[in-house]
Amino acid sequence: MKIKKINKYIGAEVTGVNLNKPVSEEMKKELYNALLDNVALVIREQSFSAEEFMKAASLFGELMEDQNRRYIAEGVPMVSILSNRHVDSAGKPAKIANNATWHTDHTNQEYPPKFTALYPVALPDTGGGTALCNMREAYSALSDDWKIKIDRMKTANTLISSARAATGNLDIVKEQKEAGTPPMIHPLVRTHPERGTRSIWFHKAKTENIIGMESQETQNFLAELLEEAIRPEFTYIHEYRLGDMLIIDNRSSMHKAGFDYDHSQHRMLYRALVRGDKPF
Ligand SMILES: [Fe+2]
Repeated sequence: MKIKKINKYIGAEVTGVNLNKPVSEEMKKELYNALLDNVALVIREQSFSAEEFMKAASLFGELMEDQNRRYIAEGVPMVSILSNRHVDSAGKPAKIANNATWHTDHTNQEYPPKFTALYPVALPDTGGGTALCNMREAYSALSDDWKIKIDRMKTANTLISSARAATGNLDIVKEQKEAGTPPMIHPLVRTHPERGTRSIWFHKAKTENIIGMESQETQNFLAELLEEAIRPEFTYIHEYRLGDMLIIDNRSSMHKAGFDYDHSQHRMLYRALVRGDKPF
C-alpha cells in the first residue's frame, strides 16, 4: 500500500490496496491516521457492491444510518444513494440543490458522522466532483479579529433552514414542519476530539441561525465567513474515476457537491457515514 499526498494541505491518494481483501490492524491504523492527517483519502481501484462498500467503510469505524431513509441501497441499510435521478413522492424529480453549498453532513443531529465515505456507481463524462476544504487550515489562517468574533458562536441546526426551504426537497421540508423537532445547537468552531485542532464547521443550508442573530443575517454572515476562510490552497476538487473510494474527516473539513456537469447524464454515488461524537 502506498499513500501519497495530493495537495499540500488536503488529500492523499492510496494505491496498492484491495479493501475487499482482509486488511491487517496495522494497515487499518495507517489508513486511519493518514485520513486524519490529510483530511481526505482517495483509495483508488476498488470494486464494490453496496455491501462491499459498507464493509470497506466500516474499516474506519462503526457506521450510522443516513437520516434520509428515502434512497437506500437495496438490502444494505447503511449505504445510501446520492443520485440526480431520484424522484419525490409526487413522482417529480427531487430537488438536489440544497447540497450545492459548503457544508458538513448531518449537523442537525447530536452526533454527526465523523467520516463520510463516497463511491461512484455512475459518472457524467466530466464534472460532478466533490470539492473539499481543510477547515482547520482555513481557521488557523484567519485574522485574530475573525477568530475572536467566531470562537464562541453557536449554530442552531435544522434539517433544512428556512432560508433554504424554497429550494429544498419538498418531502423533507414538509416532514420537518410536521415533526417540529427543536434545533440542534453546535459550536461554529469545533475541536477535533483526537487531534485537538480547531476548525470552522457548519452546514449553511441547515443553519437556521447563529445564536443571537436573525436567519437572513446568519446566511449573510456565513457567506462572508466562507469568502474569507476558503482559499484555493486549502481546497481540493475530487473529480471521480470509477473505482475511487473517497473518505473525508468531517471534523476538519467542509465539502460541496459539484453541479458543473451535464445533468442529462447519470451521476450516482454510494454514501456511508461513520458514527461521530458530539462536537465541542
Ligand atoms: Fe455532504
